[in-house]
Formats: sequence, structure tokens, C-alpha cells
Amino acid sequence: MMIGVMHGPNLGRLGRRQPEIYGRTSLSDVEADLRATFPEVEFQFFQSNHEGALIDTLESWRDQGIRDVVMNPGALTHQSYALRDAIEGLELRVVEVHLSNIYRREPFRAHSIIAPVVVGQISGLGVMGYHLAVRYLIASSGAV
Ligand code: DQA
Repeated sequence: MMIGVMHGPNLGRLGRRQPEIYGRTSLSDVEADLRATFPEVEFQFFQSNHEGALIDTLESWRDQGIRDVVMNPGALTHQSYALRDAIEGLELRVVEVHLSNIYRREPFRAHSIIAPVVVGQISGLGVMGYHLAVRYLIASSGAV
């Protein structure tokens, strides 16, 4: 089974960026952890600060047969219609993950533009959210 794990803007500095909000685990720790916990999964990881690069990668993953994606779009969650259209148009099975609870923070974070086109959302559980999202995608693989 193949799963893409995608991170949007500013998440490349995870572990160093506002650790009181996002924690001290780095992105490479998250990736190593997922590979170790789910050896049966063939992971692709991608982080970019650029919306277009994220969409190009989703298209390329789809062409490689990857439909299942764990995605933390960062602030693009709240502003990117293009990302939303890509998820919908490529018929991806996305679990949206946020390290922080986006409903307990500034009001602009409480609205996710991509939420209506994802399978589900995990918000506020820190890096454990990625594990739970992968577990869900494995458990429900084969589902529509
Ligand atoms: C985030 C929440 C977003 O509002 C923010 O812009 C991020 C990270 C999270 O993981 O909690 O970059 O997606």
C-alpha cells in the first residue's frame, strides 16, 4: 500500500517553529517514525512552501497510483481553493491533519477550505495525528 504524506508552508521548520504550539518533533522525526511504525506502507513524503509545487506533487502521486494522502496544508488550509480543487479533481482520499487544534486559535484558522473534500480531519493531537491518519487509511483501504 502506498500513502503520500504532504506538508504545506512553514512545516519544514517543525520542531523549531513555535514549539509551544507545534511541538519539538522535526519533520524528519515524523517521517522516520511513520516508516518504523508502518513498515508495510510505501511512503512518499513531500513538504513545500509553494502551493503549485504541492499540487504538482499530488498530480504526480496520482499518476503513480497513490490515492491515499495524509495532508497538513498549513495555512493553505484556510485560503487555497486550488488545493481543494486538486484534491477533488484527482479523487484523492485525504485525511487532513493539524498539529494544533485549529478551532481553539485565531478565528481565521477555524475555517478549512479543504475540509469538505477530505475523508476526515484530525486537529489538535500533535504528531500523533499523523499516526492515526495512517492507521485509518490502512484500515479503510479498498473503501471508496
Ligand atoms: C497547522 C494550523 C494552521 O493554521 C497553520 O497555518 C499551520 C499549521 C497545524 O498543523 O496546526 O501552519 O496546519
